[in-house]
Amino acid sequence: MPMPNGPLVLSIETSCDETAVAVLDGGRLLSSCISSQTLIHRQFGGVVPEVASRNHLSKVEPLVHEALDKANVQVQRIDCVAATRGPGLLTSLLVGYSFGKGLAIGLNRPFIGVNHIEAHLLSPFFGTEYRPERSIGLVVSGGHTLLVLVDRVGKYQVLGGTVDDAAGEAFDKVAKLLGLPYPGGPQIDALAPKGDPRRYDLPRPMAGRRDFNFSFSGIKTAVRYLLPKLEGDYVADVAASFQEAVVDVLVRKAMAASAELGINLITVSGGVSCNSRLRHRMEKATERANKRLLLAQAALTTDNAAMIGYVAVQRFRENLGTDLALDADPNLSLENR
Ligand code: KG4
Ligand code: ZN
Repeated sequence: MPMPNGPLVLSIETSCDETAVAVLDGGRLLSSCISSQTLIHRQFGGVVPEVASRNHLSKVEPLVHEALDKANVQVQRIDCVAATRGPGLLTSLLVGYSFGKGLAIGLNRPFIGVNHIEAHLLSPFFGTEYRPERSIGLVVSGGHTLLVLVDRVGKYQVLGGTVDDAAGEAFDKVAKLLGLPYPGGPQIDALAPKGDPRRYDLPRPMAGRRDFNFSFSGIKTAVRYLLPKLEGDYVADVAASFQEAVVDVLVRKAMAASAELGINLITVSGGVSCNSRLRHRMEKATERANKRLLLAQAALTTDNAAMIGYVAVQRFRENLGTDLALDADPNLSLENR
């Protein structure tokens, strides 16, 4: 169904290491501002929660002003304020969530707390003229790897998830082993086309199993044991072989879920979904199986506030009310919100 206009939503995301604020007019994105802390955390090789939290605190208010200015919207016109409620790092979540609540109270407008995974999950629908519909969603990020059956907005069944590392976490850890800077996903993506994906035979853990769970730490460990045996210029070949193993498992499981449940639409979202090899392989696989594929737009794959606002728009339209009495929840579940 085509999207009507409105409401005007201001959304805030601070679940990990990006401070982000967006302004939306219904399905239309008016502004999306992101202040990334990547360079700050790079010196530590990963996200340091205390440092992340303090940076959110100094960035959130200026970013709200910037997003409103870019959208050319005065704050009094906002119909609803939204912020990420969880999952994520509690001390990071609290900054954006409390700021959003305060703003909503000050403006006397409803406040909507958004599930970060739900925001990734629905992000492929953003920018299309369609409302989220029955589909299989593959969410692949730095913190999560999930296969979800989407029935409609707010009704989700998790089919499977990772039993150890998330896909993005595996990319980051293998990149670190290869001496590449954090975050490693984009580095491996850029190097892999220069390497041979068949050079090293890495495992495809759980790929042949009938369930929809994933395991990526075995691939990472295989790389760790492989590296000391290698000489010469092997980095691009290892990057390509590793990426192929991860992508292989992701594509196989997503296609198996859609076949088994008889669902024709597959969506892919989250930071790892901007991986060019994953996008290409998903396009080929869905074409072959005669399924529809919706990939999140590249700008919506890594953490951003536009996807948070998009969920809030759906919930505002369904009159799902305000979440002022609820607290941020670092372990917020997708199924029981
Ligand atoms: O969704 P996201 O921004 O944060 C979480 O909610 O976790 O995802 C970040 C993750 C990082 O692990 C990063 O290495 C990975 O997404 N990533 C990629 C690519 N771009 C980002 N992984 C593979 N290929 C990429 N091009
Ligand atoms: Zn995320």
